[in-house]
Amino acid sequence: MKPKIHFMERAIELAKKGMFTVTPNPMVGCIITQGEKILSEGYHSKAGTDHAEIVALKNLTKKVNSKMVMYVNLEPCCHQGKTGPCSNAIIDSGIKNVVVSMLDPNPVVKGKGVKALRSKGINVDVGLCKNKSKYINKGFISRVTKKIPNILMKQAISIDFKITDPKNKWISNKESRKDVQFIRAKSCAILVGSNTIIKDNPKLTVRLSKKELGTVEKRRNPMKVVLDTNLDLDINKYNFFDGREKKIVFNSMSTIYDTDKNIDYIKVKKNKSGLKLDSIFNILAEKYEINNLMIEPGRKLSTILLSENLLNDLVLYVCPKIIGKYGLSASSSVNNLSSSVIKIDSIKKFSNDVRIHYKFLRK
Ligand SMILES: NC(=O)c1ccc[n+]([C@@H]2O[C@H](COP(=O)([O-])OP(=O)(O)OC[C@H]3O[C@@H](n4cnc5c(N)ncnc54)[C@H](OP(=O)(O)O)[C@@H]3O)[C@@H](O)[C@H]2O)c1
Repeated sequence: MKPKIHFMERAIELAKKGMFTVTPNPMVGCIITQGEKILSEGYHSKAGTDHAEIVALKNLTKKVNSKMVMYVNLEPCCHQGKTGPCSNAIIDSGIKNVVVSMLDPNPVVKGKGVKALRSKGINVDVGLCKNKSKYINKGFISRVTKKIPNILMKQAISIDFKITDPKNKWISNKESRKDVQFIRAKSCAILVGSNTIIKDNPKLTVRLSKKELGTVEKRRNPMKVVLDTNLDLDINKYNFFDGREKKIVFNSMSTIYDTDKNIDYIKVKKNKSGLKLDSIFNILAEKYEINNLMIEPGRKLSTILLSENLLNDLVLYVCPKIIGKYGLSASSSVNNLSSSVIKIDSIKKFSNDVRIHYKFLRK
């Protein structure tokens, strides 16, 4: 068996179809090939539904033979979750060759799926396009290995580095704001500081249709999260508290679960910056299974995120405006210099705005 890159790239493309709906599970795509032909495809679209390997096996119309090769971007599971173990289904199908891009970092799998296949005489090749596979599932990997989500901060800034404009509601243009909707849709939760709720009263929802997102499954709104140290926010006043999605209010006072309104008030400790962000991220990963956390911070929160070196991704929309002294600056002086290497992931124009996506690589 000589694994072929273009087949694994196709499996990764299929995996990405689950981007808006699959949380808290990882994105997984699978194809079954023979020679140069793709005989069957599948991807995992929603937690609790068939995994990619099962979908590809169900879609296969030809009888399985020993020349067929299955490509899958994540190691097949070998445990009973919401659905049965994929390793058993592959063994039972009679497939004799499997190419796996990366091992599942989840401690309940981690090599055991590959071992189960090999123990039944199946040829398993591991590692093809590993970096691409790690990239698409970086939130899931972060949650299961480090017990924190992947953290992305987004800000729209003017060219004089202001994040508010007293004369306009928006800094960025319509195209940029639509792009932000896609980032929200990919996120499991969106977090803001209490001042942003007070000043902007944002809805923090995704207003894109299934057609715009290209999804089959119904997408749920991301959870909404706010830092409200002294529980000052009035739930009858702000859009944040509307909607059926889970709302989480981190605070320093008390833990209360309001099941009627789907609001969890979670007490956490404080440090000199405010509520302890590392504890909050840990709770979001462990209790709420958040893979990808998007933060839309004002000046105060962005300063703390940069000072405490907490980011994995930073997305800036730079807008051709000079706002002047009445606008709020994007951040104050950052105390600790980041020990991360910061690289550009991508740059894209949205009419006259520019989106710069930076990634932070921890040393
Ligand atoms: N252009 C953009 O992309 C963009 C995005 C977001 C916001 N904004 C603007 O930013 C402005 C608000 O910015 P802001 O600096 O005043 O406030 P902020 O960053 O939105 O919220 C900061 C508040 O969060 C609470 N908090 C609790 N723990 C914290 C911690 N560990 N670190 C930081 N904050 C913590 C504190 O309030 P409590 O003590 O009351 O809990 C703190 O005052 C708004 O006018 C909004 O329009 C712009």
